Amino acid sequence: MTVRTLTYMPFEYQAILHKDTHRFKIVVGGRRAGKSKSCFQEMLRYAITNPNSLCWWVAPTYSEAREIGYEEYTRYEEELSGAILCVHKSIMRVELTNGSKIYFKGADRKDSLRGRGLDFLVVDEAAFIEKDLWTKVLRPALSDKRGRAILISTPNGRNWFYLLHTTVSVKGDDTWKAYHWPSSVNPLITHEEISQAKDELSNNDFRQEYLAEFVTKAGQVYDDFSLDNIIHDFKINPNEHYIYIGADFGYANPAALVFVAVDPLTDTVYQFDEIYEAKMSMQQMVDEIDTKLAQHGLEKKHVRAIYTDPAGNAEEITSGISPVDYLRGTYTVINKGTKIAPGLQLVRSFILNANGHIRYYVHERCKETTRSLFGYTYKTVSKTNTDLIHEEPDKDGLHDHACDALRYFFVNAYDNAKWITDHIEQHYYTNEPVRTTVIKRCPKCKRPFASHTPKDKKPFICKDCMID
Ligand SMILES: Nc1ncnc2c1ncn2[C@@H]1O[C@H](COP(=O)(O)OP(=O)(O)OP(=O)(O)O)[C@@H](O)[C@H]1O
Ligand SMILES: [Mg+2]
Repeated sequence: MTVRTLTYMPFEYQAILHKDTHRFKIVVGGRRAGKSKSCFQEMLRYAITNPNSLCWWVAPTYSEAREIGYEEYTRYEEELSGAILCVHKSIMRVELTNGSKIYFKGADRKDSLRGRGLDFLVVDEAAFIEKDLWTKVLRPALSDKRGRAILISTPNGRNWFYLLHTTVSVKGDDTWKAYHWPSSVNPLITHEEISQAKDELSNNDFRQEYLAEFVTKAGQVYDDFSLDNIIHDFKINPNEHYIYIGADFGYANPAALVFVAVDPLTDTVYQFDEIYEAKMSMQQMVDEIDTKLAQHGLEKKHVRAIYTDPAGNAEEITSGISPVDYLRGTYTVINKGTKIAPGLQLVRSFILNANGHIRYYVHERCKETTRSLFGYTYKTVSKTNTDLIHEEPDKDGLHDHACDALRYFFVNAYDNAKWITDHIEQHYYTNEPVRTTVIKRCPKCKRPFASHTPKDKKPFICKDCMID
């Protein structure tokens, strides 16, 4: 088999990984650190030098496997032409003349991950796949042939990947080796890029995304939100400011609407008012919006858009049409589905970015918004292991509505395809059947928990204690 020299030249830190002969390697790295590229090369080298080997590249989703893994392969396709027997593009399978096969797969297609006899595995962005997929599916598939694996990822809170990386870093053994690559290891990343990233991320998010630190996603979601964000005086000028409304519709749950004025010259967002009320009919809501606008010398025409999420499409029973359709007669209503985690990062970057700048201010009259921002917390997986934190905030019914309304404004106003998702993450807006959220106190752990049944009906204890 003749293979021409590949144009890939590893940087020093990548060469160390390539020389390392540990069976399992785990790399936590910052954005653009060079994780995917180097691990693809590891896999390729293995496939070429070990005839008849079976190699998998697994990404969190099928489309990521295509856009990152398979795409990287195509860069080298021409150079590899002497070594390739055939390529099945539709199923992303590459067969080499030495009998080795490389598959690119998505963790979202679990059925395609059943299999045995793996010789080499790369799990790209491993922190974003479920733990069980690694422990119960992928790891066992490496057992019979004593296959090798590299798990690479940017951090994703303190989940299983964090625990594994930390354990390996501390203990290390003949089988496992851990690496830590902040983005700065890649000489192609310029100082300007890093500085721009600091503008676009909060300090904690920068630490996670670029320094590749496992930042605890515990406690407050907006932990940089402080009295510095609260203003006592703000005069809107409709000729200078762009006016928007962010909305999280609800009926049994309160509807939360945030009124913001954006200074387009500085990209600074001033929240000047809010509506936070349950059991409002659509007409009442429209009237309240009018009243609020008038109080600030504004008219409907000044509102550039109302931003909400697709749940606002759901039918409102009394009027027979959804809040979105109801408001569309008067306003431009934009309702895209959005991914939660990047949306939170975006809001955080306005609250306080890693360069120390505030670009979101809220007027002291917005009591529900400030209360919500201070009280909005991450959901813990188990009260006995508070280290394990879901990336998702707690929808406790108390702090999430105003925070959601604000996030819908940000992700829609600062549009970016990566924030858009097909999934509708909110409950539907309806007043029938009424699924009220009641806060009960668990007698075992004494913590409050949200329940959809009345106070005198089961369950009386929280989910965590039920599991315990
Ligand atoms: N050895 C190398 N030679 C040339 N370019 C490289 C090398 N390593 C990485 N790069 C380039 O650096 C950039 C980032 O690399 P890569 O996509 O592998 O990083 P990553 O850590 O996987 O990034 P992400 O966080 O986006 O997944 C890419 O443009 C890649 O081509
Ligand atoms: Mg990558």
